[in-house]
Amino acid sequence: MPRPETLAPIADVVVFELPSDDFVPTSAAAAAPSALPVELRVTPTPPTGEGRRQAAAAAAAAAPQARVRGRDRARRTSRPAWSERRAARAAELLHVDEDAQPVRHARPRLLTRRIAVVAGLTAGAALLMGSAAMTAMMLPPATDAGPDAAVTMTAVQPQKVEQLPVPEVSQTPPAADLCALPDVVAALQTGNDEGAIVAAGGGEAFRAAVVDGRASCVDLGDSSRIWTVVDKIRAANPIDYRPSGLVLPDGVRNIEGGALRADAASALASLVTAARDAGVGEIALESGFRSYETQQATYGRHFAERGEGADQVSARPGYSEHQLGLGADVVACAGACGTLDQLAATAQGQWVADHAWEHGWIVRYLDGKTPVTGYTAEPWHLRFIGPELARAYHDGGWTSLEEFFALDPAPDYAG
Ligand code: DAL
Ligand code: ZN
Repeated sequence: MPRPETLAPIADVVVFELPSDDFVPTSAAAAAPSALPVELRVTPTPPTGEGRRQAAAAAAAAAPQARVRGRDRARRTSRPAWSERRAARAAELLHVDEDAQPVRHARPRLLTRRIAVVAGLTAGAALLMGSAAMTAMMLPPATDAGPDAAVTMTAVQPQKVEQLPVPEVSQTPPAADLCALPDVVAALQTGNDEGAIVAAGGGEAFRAAVVDGRASCVDLGDSSRIWTVVDKIRAANPIDYRPSGLVLPDGVRNIEGGALRADAASALASLVTAARDAGVGEIALESGFRSYETQQATYGRHFAERGEGADQVSARPGYSEHQLGLGADVVACAGACGTLDQLAATAQGQWVADHAWEHGWIVRYLDGKTPVTGYTAEPWHLRFIGPELARAYHDGGWTSLEEFFALDPAPDYAG
């Protein structure tokens, strides 16, 4: 079976590969004129297209047996002489068809162009997307006005900084006077001392306000208040002050039949009950309210017994907490009741020292505080100041009411 004919390359041709579109093609002779035989050299001036064609035709005529490959070669009967082939070859070399486009590295350049196009499209898309994102950030928030709604773009102009901001250092303003609190005022007006303290924020807040001078409506010299302070330099006001509403504490063994202010009486009953429930035994009231006149008699007895030394154990008339209805001398009972001096050595005495504050009471005259209170230790003398202040007193570790309210010590009378 005959082999199908295939077209062979037409001829050996020189391919001018141009490095770029800016390359200006020149003739082979002009590019390397010395490489050609002298007779084939042409002038350096690039011939015109017609000129080159004529020269090529002349050369071809001079060399009619120009080399041809492929099918034509098989038909040749005789091989042309070398000089003829060279002439034909020269003619081919000299022929430059200006109408033909220069052959280039089509595939690499096409691939490069395609890559460049793809890269350009990608970069463009990225730029568009970035630009869109930036635009979205600069645009006002989308509204529900619909697609036809006009979008108003407001350019964000940098603000001119006239002066660097100066940080403000603000001092914590002092807390307001607690007497500006309506609930405090209302409680005070109704004689609800404990309620006023609660409204002030509690015992410690109340104490702090008093000490800081933020309690203008609180008078520690007011004998009717549970926060009043009576000692050797702070007399009852008036000096023969007598509280109203004195009552006997319910459920409390009462040796002398003493009374107390109602709130203090209730608090003592609570204390006694708690001690009993705790199993420490019975606590009885030895002495409660003592009037100015009663205190005159009491102090008189001590003075008769001790002389000037009476001031260490007994208050003069007008200077006793018993006159306020807020003082209670308690004793321990086990069937029979002990004396005041015996209390400290009993379970009840220890329990009182530890738990009296839980019921609004404090042990007023502690050992070692004589320079402040003016009295030797009296573990039996309790003073009612209310649960709020008693908690603050206990929690703060205070050992005298004078120090609790930051008052001057009262070791002795003024005159
Ligand atoms: N025993 C205390 C100090 C009084 O007489 O009030
Ligand atoms: Zn007492």
